[in-house]
Amino acid sequence: MKPDLNLHYILITGAGRGLGRHLAEHLAACGAIVGVADIDTATCTATVADLISKGYQAHAYVGDLADQATFQRVADEFASLGGRIDAIINNAMILHYCPVELVEDARLTAMLAIGIKAPFWSAQALLKHYDNSRGASLINMSSPVAHRGYPNTSAYSAVKGAITALTKVLGAELGPKGIRVNAVSPASVPTPGALGLNTKEVYEQRKASIPLRRLGTEADNSNAIAFLLSKEASFVNGEIFNVDGGVAGSA
Ligand SMILES: NC(=O)c1ccc[n+]([C@@H]2O[C@H](COP(=O)([O-])OP(=O)(O)OC[C@H]3O[C@@H](n4cnc5c(N)ncnc54)[C@H](O)[C@@H]3O)[C@@H](O)[C@H]2O)c1
Repeated sequence: MKPDLNLHYILITGAGRGLGRHLAEHLAACGAIVGVADIDTATCTATVADLISKGYQAHAYVGDLADQATFQRVADEFASLGGRIDAIINNAMILHYCPVELVEDARLTAMLAIGIKAPFWSAQALLKHYDNSRGASLINMSSPVAHRGYPNTSAYSAVKGAITALTKVLGAELGPKGIRVNAVSPASVPTPGALGLNTKEVYEQRKASIPLRRLGTEADNSNAIAFLLSKEASFVNGEIFNVDGGVAGSA
C-alpha cells in the first residue's frame, strides 16, 4: 500500500536496522524525505546509502537519541532541509529481556532513556519544527507486553506500558495543536533485535499462539504506520494500533 502521506519530512529513530530500516524504505518509496537516525554508525550510513542508490531521498543522523541535546541537534539538522518536520517515528529501543533479579542499573537506565525519555524529546522537537498550517504526526512503538504480564520482560514492558500511556496523553495534549499522536503495537517480527530475545525455533513455535497462525513482518508494521501518517487517518489520534495477528485481542 502506498498511501498519500501528506507528510514529507519524516524522521525515524532506530532506522539502521529492523522495523525502522524497513519503514524508512517504505516511506521513502511513498515519496517521503526520510531522516534515518540511529546510534549505530555502520547500519545508519549503510541504510541511507542503500536508499539513495535506489533513488530515494534519505539523510543519516548518528547519535544517542536518548540524550536531549543530541535529539535536538538531529531534529534541528533534519528540519533545516525543508524548514519543517512533518512526522517523527519513535522506533529506537534496546530489546532486552531478563529475570527481574538480574536487571542491572546501567541497562535499565539505558532502556528507560531511549524508550521513555526520547519520545519526550521527539514531542519537543515536533512542536519546535512542525508547520501548524499543515499539521504533524508522532508515532510511538508499543507492544503486546504493555497489556499482558510476560515473565522476564519487566524493563521492556515497563517502557512499553509507559509509552502507551504517553501516547494517549500526548494525543489529548497535542491534538488541539494539529499534531496527531498514535502508537503501533506489532508482535513477533523476527528482526535482528528480536532474534536476540528469541531463537528462530521459538518463533516457529509461537505461530500456534497467534490467532492468524503466522509471524508478523516488517511490511505489516510499515503499512500500518503509513496508514496512520496518511490523510485517510486524519481523525485517528491517541490510538494504539495493534498489528499483531490478534494477540492483544485474544489475551
Ligand atoms: N520486533 C518485534 O517483534 C517488535 C514487537 C513489538 C514492538 N517492537 C518495537 O519496534 C521497535 C523496533 O524494534 P526492532 O525489532 O526493529 O529492534 P532492533 O533492535 O532490530 O532495532 C532497534 C534499533 O534502535 C537503535 N537504537 C537503540 N538504542 C538507540 C539509541 N539510544 N539511539 C538511537 N538508536 C538506538 C538500534 O541501534 C537499532 O538499529 C522497538 O521500539 C521495539 O520495541 C518490536
